[in-house]
Amino acid sequence: MTAVQTASHPLTNDIGDSYWLPFTAMRQFRSNPMMFAGAEGMHYIAADGRRILDAMAGLWCVNAGHAQPRIVEAIREAAGRLDFVSSFKMSHPGTFELADRLANVAPEGLNHVFFTNSGSESVDTALKIARGYHRARGDAGRTKLIGRAKGYHGMGFGGLSVGGIGRHKRDFGPLLPDVAHLALPYDRSMAFSQGQPSTGAGYADELEALLQINDPATVAAVIVEPVIGSGGVYPPPVGYLDRLRAICSRHGILLIFDEVITGFGRLGRTFASQALGVTPDIITCAKGMTNGAVPMGGVIVSDAVFDAFMAGPPEVIELFHGYTYSGHPLACAAGLATLNVYDELGLFERAAAMAPKWEEALHGLKGEPHIADIRNIGILGVVELTPRAGEAGARGSQVAQACYEDGVLVRASGDLVVLSPPLIIDEDQMGQIVDAIRSAVRQLR
Ligand SMILES: Cc1ncc(COP(=O)(O)O)c(C=O)c1O
Repeated sequence: MTAVQTASHPLTNDIGDSYWLPFTAMRQFRSNPMMFAGAEGMHYIAADGRRILDAMAGLWCVNAGHAQPRIVEAIREAAGRLDFVSSFKMSHPGTFELADRLANVAPEGLNHVFFTNSGSESVDTALKIARGYHRARGDAGRTKLIGRAKGYHGMGFGGLSVGGIGRHKRDFGPLLPDVAHLALPYDRSMAFSQGQPSTGAGYADELEALLQINDPATVAAVIVEPVIGSGGVYPPPVGYLDRLRAICSRHGILLIFDEVITGFGRLGRTFASQALGVTPDIITCAKGMTNGAVPMGGVIVSDAVFDAFMAGPPEVIELFHGYTYSGHPLACAAGLATLNVYDELGLFERAAAMAPKWEEALHGLKGEPHIADIRNIGILGVVELTPRAGEAGARGSQVAQACYEDGVLVRASGDLVVLSPPLIIDEDQMGQIVDAIRSAVRQLR
């Protein structure tokens, strides 16, 4: 591979003025643009031809590794066969097949799939379905939504409202009214837990307290990521999700698991719900659904939720919601090929088998300078650095930069070094990631 070549931008540092990147310091990016020319398996090919080990699976999505040949081929074939068909009052066979396949691998009782194009759309769809469900049952007073501190549910106004990262919301209010948040189920006594903290299930009881303030009969849904992802990789304390489930059931409130990151093998099963033994009423997913190769998301709902919508006159649209690209033929082809690849390569079983090695590798960093905590579950992890006084985030970005120079792509989110490699990772590559972080933190001041 050579440097990126395009007609108008022949040099990697000649990137023009037009493109506004998401979640990026534009002016800083311009001074040192990180550009990729290709990708294969565990690696990106940088614009300068270097092979970079991808410790983030793109952005928590390329679970089967980059440019997976069977997925690439399926997309190629689909593009030439049926470029587009609306999903409004018509469809194509791929949507039905993919929905059936997803229902088959989803937790028991979650049998109906609504297609979207992203995690954000999945979350907003799920929140609307939750409110619509109560209304369809004659309980229209249930409109309140409960999220959680540090939750990330995408960038739509719905997801932003239930999300729990203050900086994401600050510039864009007012958001949805009638939203409350649970606290983060974490305290420093849990630092360096390996996997799920053994204490902390009691944090779930805060939901009961919130419901007494808000009147449980006005609450539509509680939405949480089973494992907080973008907010800092916080595995749930043992028993915590079970308690949330029990409280929601007791009060007739829907429980939504946002599995945009945890879906498709991260925790060694199709969904974290299955790995952790707690079944929600609604699952949102995206990312690993197509291995990141074509944008797609989904909302998988229980029979009870679906059936509530199906009670009216059959000629009336039950859910006034959808997107032009819902169930796009290319995305369905990618989704079906992706599920086949996960199955045929046994990638979820592999993730489960590799998780203890991942845990051991990451926790081998304990005791290195500036490390405040290391958290892990499945093939997910984070190394939390102590912020340098007056320069929050500086150590995180220095570690990410040093790792990159060392040939490893990690994601810095403030002073968190976030890790979510493809599930095809081997032990040597785990070692390479950990070695890069070790050497980077030793250079920090
Ligand atoms: C848990 C969760 N929900 C929703 C989203 C939003 O997904 P998207 O960026 O595809 O809209 C993300 C993205 O990282 C996520 O992690």
